Amino acid sequence: MELLKEKIRQEGHVLNDKVLKVDSFLNHQIDPELMMAIGEEFARRFADTGVTKVLTIESSGIAAALTAALKLNVKVVFARKKKSALMNEEAYVTQVHSFTKNETNEVTVLKKFLGAGEKILIIDDFLANGEAAMGLARIVEQAGSEVVGIGIVIEKAFQDGGKRLRESGFRVESLARIATFAGGEVQFAEECVKHQS
Ligand code: G4P
Repeated sequence: MELLKEKIRQEGHVLNDKVLKVDSFLNHQIDPELMMAIGEEFARRFADTGVTKVLTIESSGIAAALTAALKLNVKVVFARKKKSALMNEEAYVTQVHSFTKNETNEVTVLKKFLGAGEKILIIDDFLANGEAAMGLARIVEQAGSEVVGIGIVIEKAFQDGGKRLRESGFRVESLARIATFAGGEVQFAEECVKHQS
């Protein structure tokens, strides 16, 4: 998605060889116009899947999940990383370990918001090792529903999350795929392919 790639080129900061800072439009401040375009793009790419609900994880996945759900005309549910004091109702629970942050969260979704027989589109902001998406997929399975797609805003293609998810049979669509941060520069995956040919 060219608009997103341009934004990453203009405002993204490569922190080290693994981490990209995009807090001016995705992870802290949010650019609503860009987020609407991202939602439209996800809705276009998954239009043929019969999505009945969008599932994401707090907090940075919520904005993109919301605009995608708006365009797909379905509800959006976000998994919580900390159990709310009010969450005394029955919930699906799974452990998600973040290698980037070196922490494990107990991720929960109330059963009343995720029934059986739903066609779920999982949306998240970053794909690194795939732990968050795998965790959400486990919750969908616990609910007796089906994952019809996984939409990612920024995939770091040099980490193995995309490979793991695709090899597990999931349809993964990433709006920007980053091949490397070599030399402190963002190089997109498609550009690498172009340069090799
Ligand atoms: P994984 O789910 O693919 O395995 O990714 P990982 O655990 O490594 O990611 C953990 C957190 O770090 C996630 O945010 C993810 O969005 C974020 N993250 C991963 N790589 C990058 C990166 O290159 N840049 C930035 N800015 N973030 C990255 P989170 O803990 O869920 O935080 P939030 O959603 O509450 O903001």
